[in-house]
Amino acid sequence: MLPDENGLDAWLRYAPLASDLISQSEQYESVIALSSDDTSPVYTAAREVQKGLHGILKQEVEIAHSLASYSQKDDKTAIFIGTIHEFSQAGGDVTQIPPLKEDGFWLDNHGNKSVHILGQNERGTLYGAFEFLMLLAQGKPCPSGHISNPSAPIRWVNQWDNLDGSIERGYGGPSIFFKDMVVQDDLTRVSQYARLMASVRLNGIIVNNVNSHHDLLSPKNLEGLGRIANAMRPWGVRIGVALFFDTPKTLAGLPTSDPLDPDVIAFWDRITAQLHQHVPDLIGYLIKANSEGQPGPLTYGRTLAEGANLFANALKRYGDGVVVYRAFVYNHHLDESNWKNDRANAAVEFFKDMDTLFADNVLVQIKYGPIDFQVREPTSPLFAHLRKTPAIIEFQVAQEYLGQQSHVCYLPPLWKTILDFDLRIDGKSSPVHKIVSGERFDWKRSGYAAVVNVGSDSTWLGSHLAMSNLYAYGRYAWDPLSDAESVIRDWTRLTFTANPTVVDTVSSISMESWPTYENYTGNLGIQTLCEITKTCHYGPRPDSMDGNGWGQWTRADAHGIGMDRTVATGTGYAGQYPAEIAQLYEKLETTPDELLLWFHHVPYTQRLKSGKTVIQHFYDAHYEGAANVQTFAPRWEALRGLIDDARFKHILFRLEYQAGHSLVWRDSVNNFYMDKCGIADEHGRVGHYPWRIEAESMDLTGYTVILITPFEAASGGKAIVTTSNDKPGTAKCTIPFETGVYSVAVNYYDHLGGTSHYKLSLGGQVIGEWAGDLSTVLLHDFSDLRDGHSATRIIFESVNVTKGDTLEISGMPDGTELAPIDYVSFLPPGIVD
Ligand SMILES: *[C@@H]1O[C@H](CO)[C@@H](O)[C@H](O)[C@H]1NC(C)=O
Ligand SMILES: *[C@@H]1O[C@H](CO)[C@@H](O)[C@H](O)[C@H]1NC(C)=O
Ligand SMILES: *[C@@H]1O[C@H](CO)[C@@H](O)[C@H](O)[C@H]1NC(C)=O
Repeated sequence: MLPDENGLDAWLRYAPLASDLISQSEQYESVIALSSDDTSPVYTAAREVQKGLHGILKQEVEIAHSLASYSQKDDKTAIFIGTIHEFSQAGGDVTQIPPLKEDGFWLDNHGNKSVHILGQNERGTLYGAFEFLMLLAQGKPCPSGHISNPSAPIRWVNQWDNLDGSIERGYGGPSIFFKDMVVQDDLTRVSQYARLMASVRLNGIIVNNVNSHHDLLSPKNLEGLGRIANAMRPWGVRIGVALFFDTPKTLAGLPTSDPLDPDVIAFWDRITAQLHQHVPDLIGYLIKANSEGQPGPLTYGRTLAEGANLFANALKRYGDGVVVYRAFVYNHHLDESNWKNDRANAAVEFFKDMDTLFADNVLVQIKYGPIDFQVREPTSPLFAHLRKTPAIIEFQVAQEYLGQQSHVCYLPPLWKTILDFDLRIDGKSSPVHKIVSGERFDWKRSGYAAVVNVGSDSTWLGSHLAMSNLYAYGRYAWDPLSDAESVIRDWTRLTFTANPTVVDTVSSISMESWPTYENYTGNLGIQTLCEITKTCHYGPRPDSMDGNGWGQWTRADAHGIGMDRTVATGTGYAGQYPAEIAQLYEKLETTPDELLLWFHHVPYTQRLKSGKTVIQHFYDAHYEGAANVQTFAPRWEALRGLIDDARFKHILFRLEYQAGHSLVWRDSVNNFYMDKCGIADEHGRVGHYPWRIEAESMDLTGYTVILITPFEAASGGKAIVTTSNDKPGTAKCTIPFETGVYSVAVNYYDHLGGTSHYKLSLGGQVIGEWAGDLSTVLLHDFSDLRDGHSATRIIFESVNVTKGDTLEISGMPDGTELAPIDYVSFLPPGIVD
């Protein structure tokens, strides 16, 4: 039995290689670290190599600090670790090393004599050490004369941590940075996080939520930010902060926060000076302003550039920090009745004329698509409008709209649709990765940011599998041409084992996961059809997309669906792209199916390039996506015993949960649109569920029938709840199905407000008992209602069922959760329903 693991070391476990590989390995004798400053990433690199050799090869090495102290012993390998400059100063030969970019490294292996890990700077040295260790841990050979350079200098993480310790869109437990409005005392997890970041070459972090709070800048927190910076600095990770625009008013009591007001300027100057006393290497400020109710320069009649330059000027005085201004500026009170209105237009409208007005240490951070981290979006056209102002592309590792870590969704295939997209600016090749790398417009500082939102759970993100996205994000920011499949295979070998069955299984499930998720959530560019008006952004709620000011509209009615974003008849959004791309999206015929409904409003009977109608594609994709999810848990089952039990079970539980919730998605979306357009599924599936027994049709004691809102979140629109919140209810019926072996599924609602308990019996035999405690197990809030977020399924496999026996479910309510039940399914082998 393999010992249980909790995920804390993620892909840096340094698990021992197989004994035959260990015995064939070189004997490492010593590590010569060319820095003895224990806050230097060079020193960190040496200690990490020492730790890795101990774990991977069971070899113990000493750390020495000078070339002079070293004399080569027979057949033993010395590892030299330092910057190129340090190595050359110490008398080492650096003539054969080609020039490296900032953070780049040189890794050189001379058989059984020496390994050189030399960085362009200290950070690069550390990255080289991690490269060496990660090859070693996978049993891959260490190369000779290998150089590696980053695609872009900025490779940052954004954490949306609040000072009270909660995390906006965090699904891995409370903050590792803040608690009770102050920086935490114990920052052990913060330095562990920096270690993970450094291992995938991420070099900066904004530590607090873009929806910031003025208390971040209290004297106690300035000191605390200094401690965070100290905890991360040995790993080459620099910190920055997100600011609340109105801090001059709310913290200092000034009458205004007008960016041109001298007292406001002086205030930010003072704060910036104080912050630099604690964090001399601050990377800068992230600003979300005039967005979703946040104040900003527009509040004071000033331009966005005037707002950004206020901070830029303050930063310039104290260091090399930058202002990162988020392009996520839009009006969330748009009038849907006007067909010209379009939130997707906002970023370009706000920023296109600002390009020459920003100070030279201002960057604009642009979400990959024009709306908000949806399952499929076209590339943000703003990337084609900034020539002078450098850009950062914003991804989201936190799966806000992508299953919130309770659904597996490996994101690189999605990221690649953006990074590889050629915007054809001025008729020239302009793939997004060459824009953000700085190559296309000759920017010195630009790059990548991702909202990650790790928390204090030992899994970091709330799910072991979700960590592949953090790993992959680092790999892509370094090299956007990475291959998604080899990245997941590397991650799997490091995180679990090199066993080919494990590597193949994790890799195939991961590679299928995003297209599968898209299939059972929102197809053809209609966006993730989840609840958007409340804060949840999780389960299905297609009607919430329309009828409000948020502008994530689908414009679905009885006849048609989709946003007309053409120049000819729609919102004009397509015209924000460079000419070649604008032409492509302007016409229905040249718009790819996967973005059809993003750009065009069409009848449900519109034929796709595949030959299917839009509505039939919706039905089919939802059935195929949900059916594919059903295969994940059984495929995972084959790994029992090949990885430790703790992580095996943790993942199995989530895959089984996802299988159930994907059916909730499938049925909700399909029934919603069938109801809307009245067009039946050609295959007769939608609305017909022959293996179900609806709870509302059973004999009820202590239970009563209720209507569910929205109707599509319940099979048949109805469910049952107990009539009191302290007495159990029972639902009974006679089993109408032929005697045989079935999987028995119970669909119920598990919402906040209590933990109900359930018991299922057939013919007097207890089949299973369970509790409605998903929010505790899955680490995120679902909903306090019976709806598409809280609807879930538990399944009992291979149950002997006798026709005519009594099925009985008893439910014990708790708090406001009234042991709600939707239906029971008896599924013969191979049937998904
Ligand atoms: C290093 O030495 C070991 C044991 O003597 C040998 O098996 C291995 O092939 C050598 N490796 C290289 C790269 O020369
Ligand atoms: C998604 O649905 C489409 C349309 O039915 C189908 O062609 C494709 O194979 C599905 N892919 C997955 C991974 O479910
Ligand atoms: C189900 O029935 C089969 C054959 O009657 C029997 O072998 C098996 O043990 C039963 N399984 C359970 C779980 O009772």
